[in-house]
Amino acid sequence: MTATAASPAPSWPEDALRLNAVCPYYTMFPLDFPLQQLAARPDATRVLDPFCGRGTTLYAARLAGLPSVGIDINPVAAAIAQAKLTRITPGAVVRLAQEILGGSARGAVPEGEFWQWCFEQETLRELVTLREALLGMSTPTAVMLRAILLGILHGPRNKYLPSYLSNQMPRTYASKPAYAVKFWKTRDMEPVRIPTLEVIERRAKRLLDAAPLAHGGRVYLGDSVQALNGLRQKFDLVVTSPPYYGMRTYVADQWLRSWFLGGPEEVPYGSHGQIARQPNQEAFIQALAEVWAATARRCRPGARLAIRFGALPSALTNPEHMLLASVKEAKAGWVVKEVRQAGIPSRKTRQAEQFGKAGNAVEEIDMIAELIGLPR
Ligand SMILES: C[S@@+](CC[C@H](N)C(=O)[O-])C[C@H]1O[C@@H](n2cnc3c(N)ncnc32)[C@H](O)[C@@H]1O
Repeated sequence: MTATAASPAPSWPEDALRLNAVCPYYTMFPLDFPLQQLAARPDATRVLDPFCGRGTTLYAARLAGLPSVGIDINPVAAAIAQAKLTRITPGAVVRLAQEILGGSARGAVPEGEFWQWCFEQETLRELVTLREALLGMSTPTAVMLRAILLGILHGPRNKYLPSYLSNQMPRTYASKPAYAVKFWKTRDMEPVRIPTLEVIERRAKRLLDAAPLAHGGRVYLGDSVQALNGLRQKFDLVVTSPPYYGMRTYVADQWLRSWFLGGPEEVPYGSHGQIARQPNQEAFIQALAEVWAATARRCRPGARLAIRFGALPSALTNPEHMLLASVKEAKAGWVVKEVRQAGIPSRKTRQAEQFGKAGNAVEEIDMIAELIGLPR
């Protein structure tokens, strides 16, 4: 059943795509994948991604002029994905940041070596004030400012105009505190003052000046089966990518962004609710099957389900077999139409590259199914 052809995706001007890159998320798929699926279903009216991550599917739906719904159990993913459904001017974002920073300082500044070395004192004060203010805000402007701050929170130090608030760090994931402090100390890398508002302003302009119209939708933070069971809308296109079997938590490597969203000041090592943390392959297949069954209940007959899936090389498993078994186990009316090779994922977006220890990547697959008859 394996093929290699894919429908071409329409091309968009580069500046209309910038908002999709508001903040990296370690396991994103390329925008082309959902765009191809939308091109293959020009009659689609509403799009769903039950494992939406940073909301790539939602942004593709927005480009295609459609509303969409995304679900993710990771607060960082949900916060980034929300911004993909939001249209706001750069001026509004900057005004909100100015207002917050112009008021009195709020929140307790975290203490300890990591914080002293990661951010210059005044920059950290600004960051804490913004964090504290945004915790209680849910307006579209706050959603966008929050996502922009997640995107500029940490990254490499520039020689000229700064793009990130932290001392030298990767932008895709946050280093663990002990490692980071040692890195900075041995290189004598004191944090420098970064004017938070200026960085926000530059980033907001770049991301939002040419952002396309938004077409509605919503992001739910939580478990996909539970969230799907609470939905009332019907979908005719589902584009998604579940975590690979055996994946580690998506939370620990995003710990600094999790802190900004109200999480603890230390690395949280739990992986509560993450579907990939099943004890064995059978349990993982069963958990995926439940998602495909819950998805079918929210889909119209004839709906298209497109899944990109892969495996960690260390999991010694065949992603095609696992995915087909999960769809079969769902017993929900999904009929597999095609399985095609999706190629080796790029280093940047590989799930298997998490923590940089994965070794050789395994080729990913795309599976296309159609909902026949009435779901249970
Ligand atoms: C491969 S990533 C999706 C990436 C996405 N395609 C993108 O472009 O950003 C899989 C996502 O599933 C989420 N996830 C894991 N278990 C979940 C569950 N039980 N319910 C909802 N989301 C879950 C993870 O937090 C992760 O963000």
